[in-house]
Amino acid sequence: MNRSVIIGTGSAVPKKVVTNEDLESIVDTSDEWIRTRTGIKQRYIAEDGETTSSLATVASLRALEMAGVSPEEVDMIVVGTTSPDMIMPNTGALIQKHLGATKAFGFDVYAACSGFVYALAVADKFVKEKPGSKILAVGAEILSSITDWQDRNTCVLFGDAAGVVLLGGSQESDRGILSTHLRSDGRLWELLHIPGGGCVYPPSAEMAEKRDYCIRMQGNEVFKHAVRSLAGVAREAMEENQLKPDDIDLFIPHQANMRIMKKVAESLEIPIDRVYVNIDRYGNTSSASIPVALDEANRSGRLKRGDLVLLDAFGGGFTWGAVMIRW
Ligand code: COA
Repeated sequence: MNRSVIIGTGSAVPKKVVTNEDLESIVDTSDEWIRTRTGIKQRYIAEDGETTSSLATVASLRALEMAGVSPEEVDMIVVGTTSPDMIMPNTGALIQKHLGATKAFGFDVYAACSGFVYALAVADKFVKEKPGSKILAVGAEILSSITDWQDRNTCVLFGDAAGVVLLGGSQESDRGILSTHLRSDGRLWELLHIPGGGCVYPPSAEMAEKRDYCIRMQGNEVFKHAVRSLAGVAREAMEENQLKPDDIDLFIPHQANMRIMKKVAESLEIPIDRVYVNIDRYGNTSSASIPVALDEANRSGRLKRGDLVLLDAFGGGFTWGAVMIRW
């Protein structure tokens, strides 16, 4: 059976670090509140022309270098993002241009913080269909461009980053992506959304003045749904592969809030030392959070051939999903 295998990983962040103390001078908040409620200590924020596609290009080059694959060999670039450089063209096409990936085609999937898991599921299907393919699955965000810097409920949470995996085909039946699980429930869209900028509420001076192009969230409601959905779909991924929590070597949940990750791990009975956590350094980077964590885990030697890795995402929409991988 042909499977898709991760043959390279890469990530990139902007140069500028913004600490919790820095935010104390912007909104009425404190380092103590942010740390205890979320686990975040700092985040990276873009400036000087750093864009979603430019960060994603750096991360892609790192993944390609790891695998020894040239940009010209890439067949497809699929990008999970909610903060594209522009509405048109899509970010995948821009990354293709920056890389010089001349034979590739690129497009975006739009699933908020679940964007990378959705992109990876799409990439997996393409590799299975054409086993010789080399596909970049990307999660990249400049969330700072859609963050309301006057809203303390949200601005302390988010950061900018990009993470990438390079997928290739393999005939080895004992490794690769074992299963993907995608879910959404559009009835709950209002709990986490961006009101302006689309055809319902097009850009206008009024929209800009009200900062309605920014993320609006009912944090405590989102929290409850996130815990339930993340645990539910992770359980489904284990059941489909006849695996127990004990079998999971590394659990990589979306890095939205340390308390959410702990509750999900408790509910699944996965010990906390097998949960990958880096939210303290990056904040919530939406679709970039899982591929950045995966790249860190890979490069630091935390992943060994044969390890079972469970990815688990949740975001606006609501959307959520899990991917089970044998490394
Ligand atoms: N600094 C200080 N106080 C703040 C604050 C900040 N940055 N943000 C909110 N508060 C205040 C609130 O105004 C509220 O004050 P009040 O009790 O006087 O009304 C109090 O803190 C508690 O607010 P609440 O929203 O109930 O806090 P919480 O414990 O739910 O934590 C979140 C808030 C946002 C950290 C938490 O709900 C969360 O992480 N939700 C999920 C978010 C998420 O994951 N989103 C992305 C999904 S992909």
